[in-house]
Amino acid sequence: MEFRRLGRSGLTISEIAYGNWLTHGSQVEEDAALACVAAARDEGITTFDTADVYAGTKAEAVLGKALKGVRRESVEIFTKVYWPTGPGRNDRGLSRKHIIESAHASLGRLGTDYVDLYQAHRYDHQTPLEETMRAFDDLVRQGKVLYVGVSEWRAEEIAAALRIAAELGLDRIVSNQPQYNMIWRVIESSVVPLCEQEGIGQIVWSPIAQGALTGKYAPGAAPPASSRALDRLGSAFIKEYLSDAVLSRVQQLRPLAVQAGLTLPQLAVAWTLQNPNVSAAIIGASRPEQVRENVRAAGVKLGPELMSAIDEVLGPVIVSDPALTASPAGRPGDDD
Ligand SMILES: NC(=O)c1ccc[n+]([C@@H]2O[C@H](COP(=O)([O-])OP(=O)(O)OC[C@H]3O[C@@H](n4cnc5c(N)ncnc54)[C@H](OP(=O)(O)O)[C@@H]3O)[C@@H](O)[C@H]2O)c1
Repeated sequence: MEFRRLGRSGLTISEIAYGNWLTHGSQVEEDAALACVAAARDEGITTFDTADVYAGTKAEAVLGKALKGVRRESVEIFTKVYWPTGPGRNDRGLSRKHIIESAHASLGRLGTDYVDLYQAHRYDHQTPLEETMRAFDDLVRQGKVLYVGVSEWRAEEIAAALRIAAELGLDRIVSNQPQYNMIWRVIESSVVPLCEQEGIGQIVWSPIAQGALTGKYAPGAAPPASSRALDRLGSAFIKEYLSDAVLSRVQQLRPLAVQAGLTLPQLAVAWTLQNPNVSAAIIGASRPEQVRENVRAAGVKLGPELMSAIDEVLGPVIVSDPALTASPAGRPGDDD
């Protein structure tokens, strides 16, 4: 494993992190979940990402169980707040009430006194940003949260958070968690330049496009057994990547991966890590062999010729419109 700084902060994290969205407490049985975390630790991953909302709060409990007994100082535990965790109108968003209540619930489920990074899962247009930033800062002062970050925020939203933190003397955000992979590159034109300048690191999600960049989904063919595309919940999220146009281009990447001595998933994870603003790529896995395969991307350097060849192959299916980074206008889950 290789390690990087989380943005300009003093925190060191593994450049490949392990995340449990759609898997723990949902698609995979608990023994497989525990085996994946054990494989991740075995392979040198120290950074684990989850969220209060994953599997209706069950994912945090599974991760807490998987990390039970592990020396707390040897791992970095990241979680998030924003999406609904209950039926109430205050069980969502970034109000002071929900942030404080959800943080306490997350700590209980994770079985820890503090999380290393607490992230605003989206931007909340219904709460004054000052209120959110103060609530995060209070959690930091209380020692319940060590660092704060955001996820899927636009450049101007990140800039506003930095401005408020500077004006009010509050703890500043250190990270952003966007979707980023060879196909989905929407952060490159505005989020990354701002974050580079401000020392904010990207912790990127779906580095292998949820499995679409592994080459295991062939154009025009049924998805392989036990894949996310056949999972009740997961299928809704991966479907954007499963067009014949995308899948046939992905097949054309295979010879490039072979030439580089990598498998397709390794090439995909390594590609995200070539961006110096990326602090970590968060991989997901439904079985431990996937973790063991994907971690081999750590430390891999892809030369400029290979990077250009990838761009040439993927050309028309690359998505780069920065406007695609957007949070819901209302409170998530509210009807209005
Ligand atoms: N902030 C946000 O809004 C947000 C959103 C989404 C995710 N995330 C974070 O990012 C993490 C990773 O997201 P992700 O799970 O979409 O990441 P991913 O690494 O792109 O996809 C992981 C999935 O791909 C398949 N896979 C992995 N390795 C494989 C291999 N070697 N060969 C074949 N198939 C393989 C597995 O699914 P199957 O075996 O089932 O096919 C696995 O669950 C999440 O756990 C979460 O922590 C954050």
